[in-house]
Amino acid sequence: MVRRPAASPVSPVLQRRPKDAGTWFLFVNVLIVVGLGIVMLPPVDAGCRPLVRKECEKICRTNGNCELRIVVIMPANTSVEASLPRVRPVLEKAEEHIRRRAIIPAKVAIRWISYDDRCEQARATVMAMDGTGSETCGHVILGPTCDFALAPVARIARYIYNDGIPVLTGAGYTFDFEEPKTFCENEFHMLIRTGLVSFKRMAYFMIDLIRQ
Ligand SMILES: *[C@@H]1O[C@H](CO)[C@@H](O)[C@H](O)[C@H]1NC(C)=O
Repeated sequence: MVRRPAASPVSPVLQRRPKDAGTWFLFVNVLIVVGLGIVMLPPVDAGCRPLVRKECEKICRTNGNCELRIVVIMPANTSVEASLPRVRPVLEKAEEHIRRRAIIPAKVAIRWISYDDRCEQARATVMAMDGTGSETCGHVILGPTCDFALAPVARIARYIYNDGIPVLTGAGYTFDFEEPKTFCENEFHMLIRTGLVSFKRMAYFMIDLIRQ
């Protein structure tokens, strides 16, 4: 026979109250402090150049349509490893994955905006500007995948929009791309390299290998 605890005149929920009240008091206090902080502190400005935010920069427009615009800048020539025809299927897979795992809300459409920079510095720079102009208003740049084209795009990215625009690439092997990027003064402030290697790492690897 299962022994039941003696029925208490106070319900278990009410009995636990004194201890809970302390927790609640703390929780409410924290909320008040955070709330006051939000109201009274000036908003943090992450940008390197204060600009007026354009209406088109919003992911969700006032009419309720939401769209994430991803600017892809890389060569169309397949003799370059990371070229548009080779990368596009990977991006489609990535989108499938994002949808399946619901990483971004289902109501947000994804628009891919591709540009062929032919691995040229000047073309890549102009395409980054086209991709972030009032007509396109991209939210993030993928590429460029050639280091020479990547450099100018990653340099200007911190001055595009009020908050800069993130530049994500698997390239960026040369030494300068490995420098710190914490502050606006850092040349490649908005650059995010997803690749594992760089020339510097490879050089250290070779030196270590030869030493052994
Ligand atoms: C692609 O690049 C290769 C090597 O640089 C070049 O020989 C070829 O003409 C290019 N193809 C096109 C269509 O530009």
